Amino acid sequence: MIDRRSFLTGTLSAVAASVAGSRLAAQPTTAVQPANLALVGSQFPKDFMWGAATASYQVEGAANEDGRKPSVWDVFSRIPGRVKNGDTGDVACDHYHRFRDDVKLMAELGIKHYRFSIAWPRIVPDGRGAVNEKAYDFYKNLADCLGEHGITPHATLFHWDSPQALEDKYGSWRSREIAHDFADYCSATVKRLGDRITSWMTINEIYCFTYLGYDVTQPPHAPGTIVKSRQEVLQTVHHALLAHGMGAQAIRAASPKPCKVGLVVNYDAFVPVIETKENIAAANKAFREEEHNGTVLVPALTGKYTQATLDRLGDNAPKIQSGDMNIIGQPLDFLGYNIYTGNYVRAADTEKGYEVLPLPKQYPQMVMPWLNFLPEALYWGVRQVSEALGKTDIPIVISENGCATDDEVTKEGEILDLSRVMYMRSYLRQAHRAVSEGYPLKGYWHWSLMDNYEWSWGYTRRFGMTRVDYSTQKRTPKQSFKLYQQIIRENRIV
Ligand code: GCO
Repeated sequence: MIDRRSFLTGTLSAVAASVAGSRLAAQPTTAVQPANLALVGSQFPKDFMWGAATASYQVEGAANEDGRKPSVWDVFSRIPGRVKNGDTGDVACDHYHRFRDDVKLMAELGIKHYRFSIAWPRIVPDGRGAVNEKAYDFYKNLADCLGEHGITPHATLFHWDSPQALEDKYGSWRSREIAHDFADYCSATVKRLGDRITSWMTINEIYCFTYLGYDVTQPPHAPGTIVKSRQEVLQTVHHALLAHGMGAQAIRAASPKPCKVGLVVNYDAFVPVIETKENIAAANKAFREEEHNGTVLVPALTGKYTQATLDRLGDNAPKIQSGDMNIIGQPLDFLGYNIYTGNYVRAADTEKGYEVLPLPKQYPQMVMPWLNFLPEALYWGVRQVSEALGKTDIPIVISENGCATDDEVTKEGEILDLSRVMYMRSYLRQAHRAVSEGYPLKGYWHWSLMDNYEWSWGYTRRFGMTRVDYSTQKRTPKQSFKLYQQIIRENRIV
């Protein structure tokens, strides 16, 4: 069956045959030519990694068990006014106790890949020093249980729940010391879990816990320190990059088996408002130069801040010590791309040469003020790593994609989350486009397996394919769960 992009057939097929297997990334043209004809009609490659994602503080609960000490989120969530309803992750989805049932749910969904995170304050409760051996049991059991169901574990070592002890000691990411403490924790963990887990992500979304954790006004994220200058914010970003680099080195040194190491970034994608040559070039330039990509993705992938970024930051640029950039630019085995939304761009006769377009007030959103519906961002974000940064070979996994919905339970007990159905299908169409054109997109992990603790929104926002009734902990698959199940079963968009 041919989908609506039927231009992939007919005359183009001859061209396609000649380029099959090659990548089109190097051809920034408006005419799209299929690199992989076998994928016409929304079929995904056989080894495409379908999965789902969660994170420790958002699902585990058991905040005071087996030696865990507070993370910055345990403390931040208790400050009045920081989190809706004063919600905390004390219980969350109680995944710590219910993981066996949750893994069964994953098996029913059909995913073969599960991304979760490991809680640093369980493993090293004081942030540095003694390792809490008992805490590894949970992750060993989880990895074993996943294995019994044919599901590959992918572990993130830091998804925002850093030990509060380090905040008290030296202000967390404001100090370079955290990079060393993080590397030590990585090393201890990979040494003990590396027989079961061979796919590691160092850090999740540097932007969120630095820019949003240390804002100069009212930070919405833990630790919620108001710093005095933008320079201090940029310094936390640099320390997080350093922690990533040292963490990557530590993982490789400690792993008892060959392993893969990646970084997860919610980098900005720039969608050419119309796919003309000029707008595509403008979007590539924006991708390289806009601040967030310039201070996180670009240094992580290339080992340097561009001159354009340093010029733009001026006095706010981070202080860099000799050897830092080498550590930061560790070669990676894959890039985790968290993609929810994006930006429209067009070429402009300005100093920058491009213009990021403001969205109109009525632009469609997915029940979050920042979550604008822009499926093409997924495609362009993948393509721009190749085309704007010249990183044509780094495997990319969509490590998160999803949306919040206002779910209603029907009297038959169904949850018809049709906006998530619409969202998922639309974004997957763009994933398919990226794969069809030969970009190295290797998997898609939906955020999230189940409703969970949505940071400063507490439990008021639901991102799950499974509904969680927090009063009973009952899990109910939603309509989107059934859709995803069928997509995985058929390995194509249905
Ligand atoms: C993210 C976070 C998730 C969020 C999700 C929805 O990495 O931003 O990893 O923890 O819950 O993105 O906001």
